[in-house]
Amino acid sequence: MNIIEIIIKKRDGKELADDEIAALIAEYTAGTIPDYQMASLLMAVFKNGMSDRETASLTGAMMRSGHILDLRPVGYTVDKHSTGGVGDKTTLIVVPLAASLGLKVPTMFGRGLGHTGGTRDKLESIPGFRTVLSEPEIIGQLNTVGAVMIGTSEEIAPADRKLYALRDVTGTVESIPLITASILSKKCAEGTDALVLDVKTGSGAFMKDRAGSDKLARLLVSIAKLMGKKARAVLSSMDQPLGQAVGNTLEVIESIDVLRGNGPADVRELSLILCAHMLALAGTVRTFKEGLRLAARNLDDGSALRKLTEIVSVQEGDVSFIEQPEKFVRAPIMSDVVLPSRGYISGMDTYEIGMAANLLGAGRMQLTDAVDPAAGIVVHKKIGERVSPGEPVFTIFTHRKHCIDTAVQKLIAAVRVSKKRVTPPPLVSKTIS
Ligand code: URA
Repeated sequence: MNIIEIIIKKRDGKELADDEIAALIAEYTAGTIPDYQMASLLMAVFKNGMSDRETASLTGAMMRSGHILDLRPVGYTVDKHSTGGVGDKTTLIVVPLAASLGLKVPTMFGRGLGHTGGTRDKLESIPGFRTVLSEPEIIGQLNTVGAVMIGTSEEIAPADRKLYALRDVTGTVESIPLITASILSKKCAEGTDALVLDVKTGSGAFMKDRAGSDKLARLLVSIAKLMGKKARAVLSSMDQPLGQAVGNTLEVIESIDVLRGNGPADVRELSLILCAHMLALAGTVRTFKEGLRLAARNLDDGSALRKLTEIVSVQEGDVSFIEQPEKFVRAPIMSDVVLPSRGYISGMDTYEIGMAANLLGAGRMQLTDAVDPAAGIVVHKKIGERVSPGEPVFTIFTHRKHCIDTAVQKLIAAVRVSKKRVTPPPLVSKTIS
């Protein structure tokens, strides 16, 4: 394979052959193609796109770059995956909820990067919780508990780990075929049979406009099907953070609140919708509506919370933190953020809110950065709500005194206020199956 010829072919808008894509990924994973040549190719893909055949081929090559879990001893498995957002803690709710309804859920997730949070960081804020399990442990736990919640390992789709890190520093993250191959290579290597995709749209999503998110959702569903998976996607709003909590322990506490039948309405609603789609995909309910009813029942009667406690216990986390969330350590600095103007919240730059949370210590700019589990933001006012003089819109939590002023300025600049009340955007705007 001649990498220069491949770069030129893609630069000139031509289609790459399956064997070229396979060799490219194998050689890049092995370290024989340098980052500067792969960066050039990624930019050519970013600019010229890929056909569906090329995207499927790339997904397969990335999936085969490492170990593929064999979950056949478990039976039928269903997972959910979000394209990434701010305050998106639904995995912590949906996975135990779906398992409490008899589904087998082998969920595998990454750490937060850039403005988005990561489920792995959230779960690791529970003392002792193990996010790394061996394949026999995964299979055993799926058979006994019904769910595993684990981090992507070095062995699963290693090509994505390298490619994502490179995309992150070369301005090539927001590419529909590259996002599709990145997500589906990991999910296919994880071995799930069916997948519900929560495709975020709006200022806090990778694809900020509805048309781009819609295109991403359709491509994810069609490539997942080509890879032999049953799949559905919902387009959900990232025009504002999901729920009120942004930051690792804050989000775990909010998830427990939702699992207790309380918590913000949007987090509850999206969790029920995603779970109902998982039940429908698995064929355990006849209609989506029946799935919604069963999901609401198991959320309200405590079954889902009991299942989370079971998962945490089996994965060696300290369950007393689930039973008494007030045990989580709070950040020493807590400060309210007040806007200079009054009126109704008419819009939010959710990306900037995610970046402010990072500055406070909740996230990382590089994979090697440490996160502060207690750092984050509580969002008191959402789009359509009125703000009176002196009322806080956010409360920040941090150990980093030196970052407070910049984070507060970011948060104030991230909120638009109008004299007239604005209708909030719909939580879920579309379902693609
Ligand atoms: N999530 C992923 O796993 N990959 C992307 O490229 C974007 C979001």
